[in-house]
Formats: sequence, structure tokens, C-alpha cells
Amino acid sequence: FDTPKSVKALAAELPSHDNSINPIYTFQETPNIVNDEAISAEDGTLPTIDFSLLISTNPEERSKAIQDLGRACQDWGFFMLINHGVPESLFKAIMDGSAEFFDLPEEEKMQFKGKGILDPINYGSLRVGNVSFWRDFLKVFLHPQFHSINKPPGFSETSFEFGKELRRIVSEILRGISKSLGLEEDYLHKELNLENGQQIMAVNLYPPCPKPELALGLPPHSDYGLLNILITNGIAGLQVKHQGKWVKINPLPNSITVNIGDHIEIVSNGKYKSVMHRAVVNKENTRMSIATGHGPALDAVVSPAAPLLDPVNNPPIYKSLTYREYVELLRYGKLADGDKAFLNQ
Ligand code: SIN
Ligand code: FE2
Repeated sequence: FDTPKSVKALAAELPSHDNSINPIYTFQETPNIVNDEAISAEDGTLPTIDFSLLISTNPEERSKAIQDLGRACQDWGFFMLINHGVPESLFKAIMDGSAEFFDLPEEEKMQFKGKGILDPINYGSLRVGNVSFWRDFLKVFLHPQFHSINKPPGFSETSFEFGKELRRIVSEILRGISKSLGLEEDYLHKELNLENGQQIMAVNLYPPCPKPELALGLPPHSDYGLLNILITNGIAGLQVKHQGKWVKINPLPNSITVNIGDHIEIVSNGKYKSVMHRAVVNKENTRMSIATGHGPALDAVVSPAAPLLDPVNNPPIYKSLTYREYVELLRYGKLADGDKAFLNQ
């Protein structure tokens, strides 16, 4: 077996009767990636948050929605957002454009190969230690500078529009989260300079896998940043750690899946946890997802929110770091993605 250029190319080369996969995709032997857990999981339902109530002009309605939002952040760290007002046609356009991108010849996609986490355009696949994951990705920074991918035609315009719509939603959710924590509603906007906040679109392609029980699309991880917004092509694969168990997520049609990132955990001083999740693969279908991460401005200092702290009952348990410092620590492996090495103890 050679290391393939992309998982998509590898999957296409496998004869349909060949049920083997390259051993570099099997995670069982790698205890630091998956230790005790096989990829079995339970079915579960995420809390639902109605966006139209979150922006309601009726104060009672809004305050009830904000309470529900706070509870979802505390109990799950994940929720399904309905009535968000993003036209379905935009989701379809970005999904179709992404699929066309992955259908480009390998050499064309390789022009977008990046070097690391702070590269504004990065096509590739993930390898952690000795294990490769059953996923190809394309990451594009959409904000504060918009980076453009000019293939396929129209993809750049669609990603611009997509980014703008998601920022509108994220901005409102972050107001709700601030309020639910007992902070001023523009606390996060001001403290973290969200006008210049980082927005990164990660398009994921998980080709059908002959041995889905041996491979993983994405290892267990938490997301850095404030909020992550996930849409999919309707094929299930996301699993979320909830009360110590892996739970399979089947999002409602037309909903978007939202989750808390590490930096909400830090600002909330651990009240809202950035929850571990992973992506599994399947034998029959190509799964696609688009995970768009929303973070502070790179130079913003992120610390537990001062108004929430109390030297006796709620001392700060996280370090203050700029967003850039945090991301660079991740990049150089000084901060394992998803572990809480940044605890200040
Ligand atoms: C992610 O965790 O970033 C993506 C998960 C998914 O593909 O469902
Ligand atoms: Fe994630």
C-alpha cells in the first residue's frame, strides 16, 4: 500500500469486491486517538433552538429562548437551530460547489494544498501520529479577509454569501450566549473584537469506506473558537460525547447543527463545555459536511469573563491567551486538540 493522494482517489481505485483498506487508516492500534471506545454509539436527539424566537421583539419570548439556549449549551454543548432564515438554495449551492471541487482532477486540487492551521487556503487530509483519517478537506478563511477559491466557477461568490449569512446568525447566537451567562449582550462582540472575527469554512468529504468499523472520518476532538456551524448532505456520521457516551446525531431537515468551541468554554470559565465529537464513515454513501468555525479576532485576548469571576466561588481556571497564541499552540502540538491542557492549575 502506498499513501494515496486523497481518500477520494483511493476509494475510487478499490475494486468493489475488495474489502480491505490500507492499514494506515485503522485506528484500533493507536491508543492516544481512540482508547477504550469502539465506534458504537447510541441514537440521540439534540436540543432544538428556534432562531426566530432568539431574535424576537417580544421580550418574554426572547428571554425564554435565551434560557433554552443557555440550557442547551450547558447540557450538550450542541444544538439544532431551526427557523434560521438561511435560504435552502444557498446550502444547496455551497454543497454542490463543494462536491464539484472534490471532483476536480487531483493535480488541480493539489494547487490548494496548504501547510498548516493558519494557512488561509488548505486542501488535504489529516494524519495524526501513525493514523490517517478517511476524509479529504478543503479549508478556506472567509473573514476578516475573504479568500477566494475560483474553482468550480461561482464557488467564490457562493462561499462569500454563505459566510455572510452564517456570520449574521452567529452574531445573534453569541448575543444570546452572552446574555444567558449574565453578561451584557454585546460582551463577546466588544471583548473579542468580533467585527474582525475569524471565520473558517471547512468542507469535508468522506468517501464510502469498505471497512467503516476500522476507520474514522475525524478523530474525537473539540473545536477551537467560539461557535461552529455544521451543515451536511443528509448522510449521518456525526457523533457527540454526552454524559460519557457517544451519541449519533440525526439532524432535523433544514436545521443547522451548532456547537460551542473552546473559547466559549474559556470565557464562561468552564460553565459551557466545548464538547468532544467525531465523524464516522459508512460503506454505502459519500458523506459531505461543511463545518464553519467562528472565532475571536486573532489578536483578541481571551480570558474567563471578569464579571463572572469571584476569588472564592469562581476563580479563573483558564489562562489568558490571544486567539493567535492559542491556535499556534495547537498548531505546534503543544495543546492537544480537545484536551484541556490549557487549564491553569
Ligand atoms: C467537524 O467536527 O468539524 C465535522 C464533523 C462532521 O463532519 O460531522
Ligand atoms: Fe469539529
